[in-house]
Amino acid sequence: MTSTADSAAGDVAVGDGPIVAVRDLARTYRGGVHALRGVSLDVPRGGKLGIVGESGSGKSTLVRLLAALDRPTAGTITFDGTRVDDRRDRDLGFLRRRLQIVFQDPMGSLDPRMRVRDIISEPLGRTRGRDERVAELLEAVDLPADAGGKHPHRFSGGQRQRISIARALAPRPDVLIADEAVSALDVLVRQQILDLLTRLVDEYALTLVFVSHDLGVVRKVCDEVAVMRRGEIVEQGPVDTVYDTPRHEYTRELIAAAPTLHGALSTAPPPTSVEPAQPES
Ligand SMILES: Nc1ncnc2c1ncn2[C@@H]1O[C@H](COP(=O)(O)OP(=O)(O)O)[C@@H](O)[C@H]1O
Ligand SMILES: [Mg+2]
Repeated sequence: MTSTADSAAGDVAVGDGPIVAVRDLARTYRGGVHALRGVSLDVPRGGKLGIVGESGSGKSTLVRLLAALDRPTAGTITFDGTRVDDRRDRDLGFLRRRLQIVFQDPMGSLDPRMRVRDIISEPLGRTRGRDERVAELLEAVDLPADAGGKHPHRFSGGQRQRISIARALAPRPDVLIADEAVSALDVLVRQQILDLLTRLVDEYALTLVFVSHDLGVVRKVCDEVAVMRRGEIVEQGPVDTVYDTPRHEYTRELIAAAPTLHGALSTAPPPTSVEPAQPES
């Protein structure tokens, strides 16, 4: 397997070109909701791309299409040079490994009947060395080794998001998509999970697609940003450029309305209190 997760950060550009390329993507739901209308987007290999926009702008629809969990009404998606939008599910095994998603609501995405070790190793299938890999992943996300034997309800919201991250990393993906992954967390825990995510993305040289309605968080995490409104990308560029000199009126409105952006831009040091490492009993 050739995974950038196994190679040094400097090797990431070897496959050159964007790792995901989206062209003229449209998705119309039954009932005539035009969730996406003509989206074109390059995800830079090894980059941290933010996708911002208010609720209902089509961000999650785009994410589901990128992961081939849903099919476009029109347009194409290319992953590392291979068209994926027109492939049958059984031919998408490589995408299921190489692109992973962390969702907002861990309770919705973690099966409550499964033990954490089985949740984390599920994307691996029946491979040798599963137990060792689970132990490695628990350590990577700073969960105690005995967490594997417990069920998700034993953990706090932040810890459940650590479990989701561990599961996403299990198959050594190249691309990690976080769809509002920290939005449900309170401010201290949010910062810890963000720190963890960015540390792991750097350590494994992953490409990050960070989806959020929260412009402040995107500025802290991402190097590039795409702004969505009503199913379209109205503006894309380096975060500092877009935030400091927005070209589109909608971007200016979003920035003006962002309560957390001003906090994110202040020079206050980040919170230092630490989330308890032990599961709550
Ligand atoms: N499965 C679906 N069926 C019908 N409409 C949907 C479905 N999923 C999302 N929508 C609609 O598509 C639009 C975009 O939704 P979504 O992609 O979830 O936006 P966001 O993630 O930015 O909040 C919204 O109007 C939403 O109501
Ligand atoms: Mg969404």
